[in-house]
Amino acid sequence: MVSYKELGLVNSKELFKKAIEGKYAIPAYNFNNMEQLQAIISACVETKSPVILQVSSGARKYANQTLLRYMAQGAVQYAKELGYEIPIVLHLDHGDSFELCKDCIDNGFSSVMIDGSQLPYEENVALTKKVVDYAHQHDVTVEGELGILAGIEDDVVAEHHTYTQPDEVVDFVTRTGVDSLAISIGTSHGANKFTPEQCTRDEDGRLVPPPLRFDILEEIEKRIPGFPIVLHGSSSVPQEYVDTINKYGGALKDSIGIPEEQLRHAAESAVCKVNIDSDGRLAMTAKIREVMANKPAEFDPRKYLGPAREELKKLYMHKTKNVLGSAGKA
Ligand code: G3H
Ligand code: 13P
Ligand code: ZN
Repeated sequence: MVSYKELGLVNSKELFKKAIEGKYAIPAYNFNNMEQLQAIISACVETKSPVILQVSSGARKYANQTLLRYMAQGAVQYAKELGYEIPIVLHLDHGDSFELCKDCIDNGFSSVMIDGSQLPYEENVALTKKVVDYAHQHDVTVEGELGILAGIEDDVVAEHHTYTQPDEVVDFVTRTGVDSLAISIGTSHGANKFTPEQCTRDEDGRLVPPPLRFDILEEIEKRIPGFPIVLHGSSSVPQEYVDTINKYGGALKDSIGIPEEQLRHAAESAVCKVNIDSDGRLAMTAKIREVMANKPAEFDPRKYLGPAREELKKLYMHKTKNVLGSAGKA
């Protein structure tokens, strides 16, 4: 058993409390490799932002669970070396079983998500409660989910949104004891959130996707005032990255993400954790493709992974400062 406390990590309890009071959201960035981790930590140290490092089950398979744990421990030391100590949470993203959550809790995670959103309601309650009962013995925080996001999550594809039903939230949080709740109000996973056909155009001709269901969020806030809410699928899919990828040989479809103004608005509410993965993937791929195309003789991975890491850092700094409002809150 390795406790996250020995690794210098924190759980999300205090961070969420402060985020709700201060009307901002903590970034939850996924990582799978060293360059992503370096970019996340250096961006959050430089902007003095707390951060949630997210590991999916796919990331655990890709990078190896033991290595990831040492990387998170290393991240705590790296932040200190960079000159400013920020609170760092190590979080399991989309845990799908009690066994996976337990394994993460036993191996240094300070927070886990148990995603029973695809299960019948009573089964979601039972599974989430089982994880909470174990996690809380170890002072680990737990995120549950109600409602289903459209899009792809690991191998599960949902065609349509199943919005969170405000009528269920009081029962769910009281019976499970979860510390935070992920909800479905129109965000979705991946780079293809909205097609141009689903959008309208503003006066400058830019595509505008259908707005998030803030009415549902407000209803939820009324039922569970001050309870920490989580938004998954919150990448904005920056057009310049899509264009760069396609310019240098990529084949991404036209896609529109969640507009930054809507995320800014959400961050001022009880939404205190915002999950972003796809934007980082796009930034990295765009930069690597650009370097590969412009310097075809280059074969030192540092020469394309280094610039990709810089681009990622720029992206994360922008999110904490201009979108989530977490800069200066560490
Ligand atoms: O919600 C899913 C995250 O973006 C993680 O994706 O399962 O491909 O690592 P992944
Ligand atoms: P995006 O695919 O929009 O980045 O969402 C990531 C996410 O929700 C991870 O859990
Ligand atoms: Zn997610």
